[in-house]
Amino acid sequence: MASGYPEGFLWGAATAAHQVEGNNVNSDTWAEENAKGSPYAERSGDAIDHYRLYREDIALLARLGLKAYRFSIEWARIEPEAGHYSRSAIEHYRDVLIACREHGLTPVVTLHHFTSPRWLMRFGGWSDPATADRFAAYCETVVRELGDLIPYALTMNEVDLPVMLRDLFASIGQTPPVGIAAESWTAPEWREEAARLCGTTADKYRPFLTASDEASIAVVKDAHVKARAAMKRIRPDIQVGLTLALPDVQALPGGEERAENVWNGYFRQYLDVISGDDFLGLQNYTREVYGPDGAAIPEAGAELTQMGYEYDPEALGRVVRQVARDLSIPIVVTEHGVATDDDTRRVEFIRRGLEGLQGCLADGIDVRGYFYWSAFDNFEWNFGYSKTFGIVAVDRSTQERTAKESGRYLGEIARNNGLGRP
Ligand code: BGC
Repeated sequence: MASGYPEGFLWGAATAAHQVEGNNVNSDTWAEENAKGSPYAERSGDAIDHYRLYREDIALLARLGLKAYRFSIEWARIEPEAGHYSRSAIEHYRDVLIACREHGLTPVVTLHHFTSPRWLMRFGGWSDPATADRFAAYCETVVRELGDLIPYALTMNEVDLPVMLRDLFASIGQTPPVGIAAESWTAPEWREEAARLCGTTADKYRPFLTASDEASIAVVKDAHVKARAAMKRIRPDIQVGLTLALPDVQALPGGEERAENVWNGYFRQYLDVISGDDFLGLQNYTREVYGPDGAAIPEAGAELTQMGYEYDPEALGRVVRQVARDLSIPIVVTEHGVATDDDTRRVEFIRRGLEGLQGCLADGIDVRGYFYWSAFDNFEWNFGYSKTFGIVAVDRSTQERTAKESGRYLGEIARNNGLGRP
């Protein structure tokens, strides 16, 4: 225990189905990418063909030294039409879980990572209260079928991201942390087309990332609570949580109240549901600084990542401390990552992030795992393949994988259960 990390600490890397599997054709995101006027830079297409190559990919992560793998099961594959479950998709994910076991990787399974089945939009997507029951029924099926192989389940990824995006679009043209043009994202024409591709109309079209009004937030919370109960009914031992996107929110003089409101929106408003969970999945990439007029632009000369936000590895330790003040359940860092084409900056990002985390553990904060985002360079949503977060590079013309130095570095840390002595 010289490193300060407890025995059995989950050292891993993460992916999400839509970003790596390829051809997620029954999902709303696929419709968005293919809608005329889509703001997506490119289509996901075959992605990195992980749906076919998962066995090699899992073997590679294990060879690097990792002990855990976080990935998502795709609702649109398991239930391609309402109430119709695909035996073939269930068996696929069974084999993914078996591959993890064979390679000694503990699986942490996300049941929903932004994408939903197209058919859900016909019912009003994440604005329809009955979506909570639909989601719980899907989670129940997954756990009934595969629960013996799933020790950790995350119902939904970043339930606060819709709130974050809403506030971002309200406050800008284009500012940090993400350089998305608000107009292109909210333009009605392509949304109408995406809705049509989902077999519905724009008024019913409510994908997960737009679930930011009060009623939809209530649906998302209800979906989490119902899914957790459904999974626990079948397998009381399964450890259930959700993930939150949590930048370290800071205030400049005069920005205190704003920063407080932002933090309430990102974190505190979810405490009512999180407090009944087994752990919180915490995801951190950077900090956000608020002044009296809103989000402050990074200072001139600040190092920025490919995403346009500040390179700030220490934000992780700070936000873990912040969260721990309000929380009595364990924390698992389910994402921490940086988009850069300079892998030495990634090695440093991981090292400095983990030094901070080690300090948290030394102060008695209960952190159970660290997952780097991402295991592989992959489809970064509306940015397409241009942003490289992976510890493994992928040549998409051949689907050849090449481990980066950062992959070997994280693997070494996993083998040693910590950074070791400096
Ligand atoms: C998401 C990932 C995404 C990553 C990097 C997180 O918000 O869970 O899907 O790729 O951040 O932007």
